[in-house]
Amino acid sequence: MSPSPALQLQEVHKSFGPTPIIRGVTLDVVAGERHAVIGPNGAGKSTLFNIVSGRFPPTRGTVRLKGTDITGQPPFEINRRGLSRSFQVTNIFPRLSVHENVRCSVLWSLRYRYSLWHRVDRLRDVEDRTERILAQINLSARQDVPAGVLTYAEQRALEIGITIAGGADVILLDEPTAGMSHSETEYAVELIRGLSGGKTLVIVEHDMGVVFNLADRISVLVYGEIIATDTPDRIRANRAVQDAYLGTEHH
Ligand SMILES: Nc1ncnc2c1ncn2[C@@H]1O[C@H](COP(=O)(O)OP(=O)(O)OP(=O)(O)O)[C@@H](O)[C@H]1O
Ligand SMILES: [Mg+2]
Repeated sequence: MSPSPALQLQEVHKSFGPTPIIRGVTLDVVAGERHAVIGPNGAGKSTLFNIVSGRFPPTRGTVRLKGTDITGQPPFEINRRGLSRSFQVTNIFPRLSVHENVRCSVLWSLRYRYSLWHRVDRLRDVEDRTERILAQINLSARQDVPAGVLTYAEQRALEIGITIAGGADVILLDEPTAGMSHSETEYAVELIRGLSGGKTLVIVEHDMGVVFNLADRISVLVYGEIIATDTPDRIRANRAVQDAYLGTEHH
């Protein structure tokens, strides 16, 4: 018997007012898989992430995380159950130092919060984890500068690092390489690959080089419906996908 999927969407619908945006999405993401979601602008990719991460509930349908029904649960609860997401727009604390940004997420992921401050051994643990993440994202040397003064690509690397390295085992990344140069994108892909080993990754991405390089499977979302889910090779060869999306210029 196969294990229950890391993420399971069943007949998920979402309307804003009278407008249907997500129109019956059913999708299984296998544990440990790297799954890309592609599709034209406005297809509903970020909306799907917002539903899965608990930002808003679906109009109907079910979302399961590692077998547990999380439909309609608030973001902190879903995060507590092991799901972490990054946003399409960089979402760090610009006035806190790079170190403090990482430390915040470590504190959150370890759930120490209140009692922590009196536990020296735990503080040591937090510090160790923070330093390890800073080293993994190659920002140790920049740890004392305010995050807001990092270059755009460094800020994205920081956000990717916080999202993936924070301890969650199911990771959603929304356009992590958007706005990056070619070399920055290559760097970010290696960062994502290195940090996400053994975890389940769902990535929304417009850069097809990134998608075909990273993804084990790809789902194509068009106007709120998944028109195909398959391996990169089969997606590339899929006529309906070519007509609807690939080969058409966007952005
Ligand atoms: N909170 C909201 N209220 C109303 N409409 C929304 C809301 N969020 C998204 N939409 C609409 O839903 C549609 C899908 O938006 P979404 O951001 O999910 O697309 P996307 O696939 O992520 O596009 P892109 O590739 O440009 O990021 C758009 O028409 C958008 O205007
Ligand atoms: Mg989007």
